[in-house]
Amino acid sequence: MTTSTPSAAPCVADRPALSEAVPQTLLLLGASGDLAARLLLPGLGRLVASGAVPDLRLVGSGRDDWDDERWRGRIAGSFATVGAGGPREAEVVRSARYLAADVTAEEDLRRLLAACQGQTVIFFALPPAVTARAAATLARIGLPPGTRLMLEKPFGTDTASARSLNDLLAGLVPEDQVHRIDHFLGKSTVVNILGLRFANRIFEPVLNSAHVACVDIVFDEALGLEGRAGYYDGAGALVDMVQSHLLQVLALMAMDAPPTLDAREVRGRKAQVLRATRVWDGDPVRWSRRARYTAGEVDGRRLPAYADEPGIDPTRGTETLAEVVLAVDTWRWAGVPFRLRSGKALAGRRKEAVITFRQPPRVPTGLTGYEQPDRLRIGFGPDRLGLDVNINGPGDPLEIDQVHLVADFGPGGLPPYGEVLRGAFDGDPTLSVRGDTAEECWRIVAPVLEVWRAGAVPLQEYPAGSHGPADSLLAPAPGEVARY
Ligand code: BG6
Repeated sequence: MTTSTPSAAPCVADRPALSEAVPQTLLLLGASGDLAARLLLPGLGRLVASGAVPDLRLVGSGRDDWDDERWRGRIAGSFATVGAGGPREAEVVRSARYLAADVTAEEDLRRLLAACQGQTVIFFALPPAVTARAAATLARIGLPPGTRLMLEKPFGTDTASARSLNDLLAGLVPEDQVHRIDHFLGKSTVVNILGLRFANRIFEPVLNSAHVACVDIVFDEALGLEGRAGYYDGAGALVDMVQSHLLQVLALMAMDAPPTLDAREVRGRKAQVLRATRVWDGDPVRWSRRARYTAGEVDGRRLPAYADEPGIDPTRGTETLAEVVLAVDTWRWAGVPFRLRSGKALAGRRKEAVITFRQPPRVPTGLTGYEQPDRLRIGFGPDRLGLDVNINGPGDPLEIDQVHLVADFGPGGLPPYGEVLRGAFDGDPTLSVRGDTAEECWRIVAPVLEVWRAGAVPLQEYPAGSHGPADSLLAPAPGEVARY
C-alpha cells in the first residue's frame, strides 16, 4: 500500500479574497436555531479568521426573545469550537446584534434590513415553508440592490414548491445572487472530483460506458437521529441526503469537462447531467429500497429504535436508509447504473464514490487468481483517493492479487460552511445549486417518493450498528454487476 499526501490540493479556499474592505452584513434569519450554532457559525468563524471578510457585521434574528449579549455568547461559543478566537473574530462578536422578529412580517423585515450596512447577505436558516413566506414578504417590500440570498436545504419540498420558491426569488434578485446551499459542494474532497477528473490524462478517457460497470455513491453514517426529530421525521434519508448531497456528487462525477471553473460553465455542465438522470428502467419499485433502524449499538453507544426516539411519529414510516439506482442517459453514461445510498446508525461508515470498471475483455488462460475488477475510490471521510488494481502477488508471478493504492487529499483551507459562505460574500455562485437544478433533483426522486408513499416498497428494518438490510441494491455478489 502506498500513501502520499500532496502539499497543496486544488481547493476553492485558495482563491484570493475578492471582498477586501467592502463592508458586509450577514443577516441570519433563524439565528437561535441548531443549524446556526452547529454548522454555520463555526464555518463563519473560520472564514473570518482567514481574513476573507475583513469588514463584517453579523445581525441575527429569530423568534426567541434573545438580546445582543445572549447572541454574542452564542457566536463566541460557536467560534470557539473551531478555535476562531483571534482579534478579527472578536470584533465580529463585539459588533453583533440580535433582533427578535417574525421574519414573515413586513414591519419586522423592514427593521431587520435597516440594521444592515453595505453589501448584505441574507441567510435563511429556516424550514422551507417559513423561507417561502419570508421571501414572499421581502418581494412586497423590496431589497436593497446587490443583496444576496442564501438558502439552506431542503429547497422546497417537491418540484412544484421548489419552482414556486424559484419564481418568488426571481422577482427579488437575479439568479446569480441566489446561493442555494449544499454544504457537500463546500467539502474540499467533493470539489477535488473536478481536479481528479480533469487535471489527469489517465482517468477521463475510461470514464464512460465502454469501461465502467457501475458508479456507487455511498454515505453511511454511524450517527443516529441526534435530536433532530422535528426536521428529520418530515424528510427522511432520501430527501435529507440523496435528493440533495448525493445528486450533487453524481453531477460532478458524471458531467463533461467545463472549459473554465466559471459558475456558468460548471453549473451548466451539472444541469445537463441531472436533466438526463432518471430512475433505472423507470421502475422505482424495483430500483429503490427504504429501511429504518431498530434498537442497537453503534460504536459502543446504545441507540433506541428510530420509531421510539422522542418526537418521532412512527406511523409516518420515515426511512433512515435509502437506496436508489439511477440512469444517466447521456452518450457517455447510457447503460451504467449509478447506485446511491445513504443511511444512519450503520456499522460501516462508508463514505465514498466508487467507480467499478468492467472486467478485462479476457484474462489470459494461465493467469490465475483474478477475482475483482479495478475500482477508483473517492473517499469523503477519510478524504482520500483509492485505486484497487490487479497485479501479481508475492511468489508466483502468474497469480493475481488485488492491491489498494491510496493517496490522501490535502485538507481544505475552510470547513464546508465557510467555503459556501465565502461564495456568497464574494458573489461567486459556483458552489451553490442553480434554481433549475434544484427542481431537477426533486424531479429525479419524485417517482421514488410516490411509490414509497403508496406503500409499494416495503419499509424494511435493520438493527442500529448493523450494515443495513441484507438485500441492498449495492451488494451484488462479485461479478454480478453485469445483471443491470
Ligand atoms: C446534513 C444532513 O445535510 O448532512 C445530515 O442533514 C447528515 O443528516 C450531514 O448527517 C452529513 O454531512 P457531514 O458533512 O456532517 O458529514
